[in-house]
Amino acid sequence: MEQSIFGITKKGQEATLYTLKNSKGMEITVSDFGAVLTKVLIPDSVGKKRDVVLGYGSLKEYENNTDTYFGSTVGRNANRLEGASVTCAGTKYQMIPNDGDNNLHSGPDGYQVRMWDVLKEAEQGNSVRFVLESPNGDQGFPGNLKITVSYTLTEDNEIIITYSGISDAETVFNPTNHTYFNLGGHSSGTILNHQLTLYADVYTPVVDSASIPTGETTDVSRTPMDFREAKEIGRDIDAEFNQLLFTGGYDHNFVLDKKAGMKKAVLVECRESGIVMEACTDRPGIQFYTGNFLKNEPGKDGAVYGKRCGFCLETQYFPNAANEPAFESPIIRANEPCETKTIYRFISKGLEKDGGCR
Ligand code: GAL
Repeated sequence: MEQSIFGITKKGQEATLYTLKNSKGMEITVSDFGAVLTKVLIPDSVGKKRDVVLGYGSLKEYENNTDTYFGSTVGRNANRLEGASVTCAGTKYQMIPNDGDNNLHSGPDGYQVRMWDVLKEAEQGNSVRFVLESPNGDQGFPGNLKITVSYTLTEDNEIIITYSGISDAETVFNPTNHTYFNLGGHSSGTILNHQLTLYADVYTPVVDSASIPTGETTDVSRTPMDFREAKEIGRDIDAEFNQLLFTGGYDHNFVLDKKAGMKKAVLVECRESGIVMEACTDRPGIQFYTGNFLKNEPGKDGAVYGKRCGFCLETQYFPNAANEPAFESPIIRANEPCETKTIYRFISKGLEKDGGCR
């Protein structure tokens, strides 16, 4: 593992960048600031390395990362809580509303703008593990929560992200990773030409542009939400379809196979670069977000990211699940450890065979 100084935070802490490499020419960089993923280099079909994740060029920009959430570890709760509140063990807790009346990604003091500790014993092999102590009342949530997140790079070109959490009181535990991918390279323009297969028969429709789910699940058949067979992301994105008009493009939770354990959620391909990515998770849902709110965001290497220049695949419990009895609950019990895993696996067409997710 290579380490370099990322910078000094406004609170005076030194932040570090950790780079993991494998023998296939793939490398990833993460930081203890925010447990963010800042870079993913992968050889394209002719062996030229491309950085396929959007990001910022400086620590200072990551300290203000409360809008785009580039590369973020989001917690305690991913996506929205209606009325910025949640009830745990019979008591109602109030969060800060930062998305109209609702709470988005746990509010302005998210885990992506915190300094995490690094577990020293894990600084070996191709893995780096961060830990954060989130005190009782943090962001409004009950319980002292200890959360760890580890990033592992395998010889199979997988990024394995493992989260674990334990709290001394009932609380919400629904972390995710908010990386924006662009398989043509982070500064290559929109992702509308990527071919997406999303293994979901149903999704959770939203009430209106505030993006709180109705509590129902709706069939994707014969709608722009159907990606069960590979389809260009841009093909139907501007269709006169209410759900897409509410959110200005795809920004919806898709319901994954109910079977327990890891399941394949998504396959995405950029034909120009020959880079393919698949995502597997043990979570029940995945937020497919097409960067609709990006507005000429200045990024690393002089890049400027416009609308739909990256897509996110945020594995999660469904949005507002903590308040929606019809959805599987993200609330964990006191003193019961919880672990969850997401894998993003990359294939360079022409260079490798597709062996599938583990
Ligand atoms: C997504 C969310 C979007 C938007 C984005 C951050 O997870 O669903 O509506 O808020 O994060 O800009």
